[in-house]
Amino acid sequence: MTTIAVLPGDGIGREIMPPTVNVLHAVGRRFGLTFKFTEAPVGGEAIDATGRPLPPETLAVAKESDAVLLGAVGGPKWEGLDYSIRPERALLGLREALGLYANLRPAVLHAELVDASPLRRELVEGTDIMVVRELTGGIYFGRPKGIEKLDGQPGQERGINTEVYTTHEIERIARVAFEIARKRRKRVTSIDKANVLESSELWRRIVIGVHKDFQDIELRHMYVDNCAMQLIKDPRQFDVIVTTNMFGDILSDEAAQIVGSIGLLPSASLGDATLGQKGGGRKGLYEPIHGSAPDIAGQNKANPLATILSAAMLLRYTLGHEAAAAAVEQAVMAVLRAGYRTADIAGPGTKPVGTVEMGRLVVAQVEKAGAVHVA
Ligand SMILES: NC(=O)c1ccc[n+]([C@@H]2O[C@H](COP(=O)([O-])OP(=O)(O)OC[C@H]3O[C@@H](n4cnc5c(N)ncnc54)[C@H](O)[C@@H]3O)[C@@H](O)[C@H]2O)c1
Repeated sequence: MTTIAVLPGDGIGREIMPPTVNVLHAVGRRFGLTFKFTEAPVGGEAIDATGRPLPPETLAVAKESDAVLLGAVGGPKWEGLDYSIRPERALLGLREALGLYANLRPAVLHAELVDASPLRRELVEGTDIMVVRELTGGIYFGRPKGIEKLDGQPGQERGINTEVYTTHEIERIARVAFEIARKRRKRVTSIDKANVLESSELWRRIVIGVHKDFQDIELRHMYVDNCAMQLIKDPRQFDVIVTTNMFGDILSDEAAQIVGSIGLLPSASLGDATLGQKGGGRKGLYEPIHGSAPDIAGQNKANPLATILSAAMLLRYTLGHEAAAAAVEQAVMAVLRAGYRTADIAGPGTKPVGTVEMGRLVVAQVEKAGAVHVA
């Protein structure tokens, strides 16, 4: 049995989570998997209930579970609060407490949505990139940090952040990237700025060292400025990209935009392999990359597919169940191929549906494909 903490959160989080849980139930029936879901409050709703964005009870549920499925947090109601107790703090708290150091953001251009890309069809068609971003180190956490007044220079201040990586931090993220590449097209591009930064020099050296255990994988190195350019020029050259926290933050947004709608993009944040399953099941937090979309919340307009595709990542990386993961992804593609669209991805000649209907269609597709498979 797989235990899953379900944290719907705020805004559309409450609407996109029920269809996703239904899809997991359907895939469970098809593949003989059992799930135990435990729901807990997070973000704004948790602040309203307890005064804290990540109450200890919620953290305990997350820690005890094999995986966490999160909707989205935040909204105008909580924007005036101090940063230390804003809804978004819950995300950092979860990552830190669960040791989730690897952030995976797939940027896949679905053939059905090729026109949603800002790039020309002939450049972008077939793009399928996995960005593996280091999530708990680098300049966002390094010390010293802060803003200080300069002695004897009235009105002058200095802002400081520190890019810092240790051997261990680089080794474990590189290992995740190579392991993922092994199940894909076996190409890793490591992104750094080794021509300027010492931390990047170490990054490159350690990645090359880890590569010795993955000789079946092709490794190349690229400077981050060139990568930003190459992503636009020829995105299909990339399979797996592995990089630091800040470079990954920026490049994964760029890659995501290349493939279109925010309502379609899932993510996984992974920790160490702890479940001991074949293939190395990893503890993980799975969530869409979008936020709580207060502008459309409560209107049955939200696209649930990014969250449903995040559940597919859960099946792949926590359960190590590739067939179940692929079944969910294929069901989503089948629904898109049939022309169904929520408003964010609708175009001429498509069939408009709401959140609930989109979820129902994916469930039906998972079940239908299962029936065909069995026959
Ligand atoms: N991981 C998270 O929980 C997360 C991430 C980003 C933003 N936020 C928070 O969400 C709140 C709103 O932020 P924002 O407006 O900048 O970003 P957003 O991602 O919530 O919304 C941006 C735009 O995309 C649309 N959109 C987003 N998800 C959609 C979906 N599934 N289907 C259809 N349309 C969708 C919204 O309607 C909006 O027009 C803020 O409080 C922000 O801090 C949370």
